[in-house]
Amino acid sequence: MILITGGHGQLGTELRNLLDEKKIEYVSTDADQLDITDKEATNKFIADMKPEIIYHCAAYTAVDKAEDEGKELDEKINVEGTRNVAEAAKAAGSTLIYISTDYVFDGKKKDGMYQVDDATNPLSEYGRTKLLGEKAVQEIMDNYYIIRTSWVFGIYGHNFIYTMQKLAKTHDRLTVVNDQFGRPTWTRTLAEFMTFVIEEKAPFGVYHLSNENSCSWYEFAKEILKDTDVEVAPVTSEEYPQKATRPQYSIMDLSKAKELGFEIPTWQEALASFLELEAK
Ligand SMILES: NC(=O)c1ccc[n+]([C@@H]2O[C@H](COP(=O)([O-])OP(=O)(O)OC[C@H]3O[C@@H](n4cnc5c(N)ncnc54)[C@H](OP(=O)(O)O)[C@@H]3O)[C@@H](O)[C@H]2O)c1
Repeated sequence: MILITGGHGQLGTELRNLLDEKKIEYVSTDADQLDITDKEATNKFIADMKPEIIYHCAAYTAVDKAEDEGKELDEKINVEGTRNVAEAAKAAGSTLIYISTDYVFDGKKKDGMYQVDDATNPLSEYGRTKLLGEKAVQEIMDNYYIIRTSWVFGIYGHNFIYTMQKLAKTHDRLTVVNDQFGRPTWTRTLAEFMTFVIEEKAPFGVYHLSNENSCSWYEFAKEILKDTDVEVAPVTSEEYPQKATRPQYSIMDLSKAKELGFEIPTWQEALASFLELEAK
């Protein structure tokens, strides 16, 4: 049996749809059914269910709020919650899939893309707690997949594409940061990889998974709004200050995932598929 935490979030919903398509049974939970910060309840739920696989999609994802008013909750969900899930998973003999982030890196690497074993150095509270979640999983378990992803967009959540589209309805001109580079990731590609590692019995460990090609947020916005009359203008991060510091360059090397035989669409292809689905 399969357990999903955070099953109604952006990624969890995509994963449920994919498992439905594949006719694979699962139990999906959200905080109401399984609050991962409740150690006893998490233990009991997982001990009773004894899932073979746990897709751990639950997380605190409000990156800027995590810097102040959400700080405590961020720590509680991403560190304590993940620890609770990992301990219960270990006791039940489950394989755990934990989703992490490019924000574990500082984005200052000078000599190419980030490798899975490169030194981490998060700049934000969210990045710090997601990294502590990774460490908890690695400390507690052997049979885990840690999948770091970045700039996630899907039909079922709040994301950069929806923000741009909403702003485009009320603005003729938008300014977007052009000095932060990364790889956008469609939830569909990520969900497919999450099921792929299980189906293919891939070696346990840390993977990077985003769509192919990279861009700045400005380039991403240009592509999102290319069929509109809205002007997209580049600005620097200094001109658009945010509470949480983001890595300037967080392009992660995807070769470990590709070596498994997993085919990764470019972010431009993924975006086109997303926009097509959205239009339906
Ligand atoms: N979004 C991105 O750009 C991005 C980038 C890199 C990595 N990631 C990682 O990808 C994963 C999925 O992210 P997402 O975009 O799907 O996030 P999301 O839409 O915010 O979903 C997170 C889910 O976690 C649930 N949750 C929160 N607190 C919980 C608790 N105490 N117990 C159980 N469930 C709880 C939320 O439920 P409620 O809505 O009821 O609170 C929500 O369903 C996360 O691990 C995230 O860190 C995301």
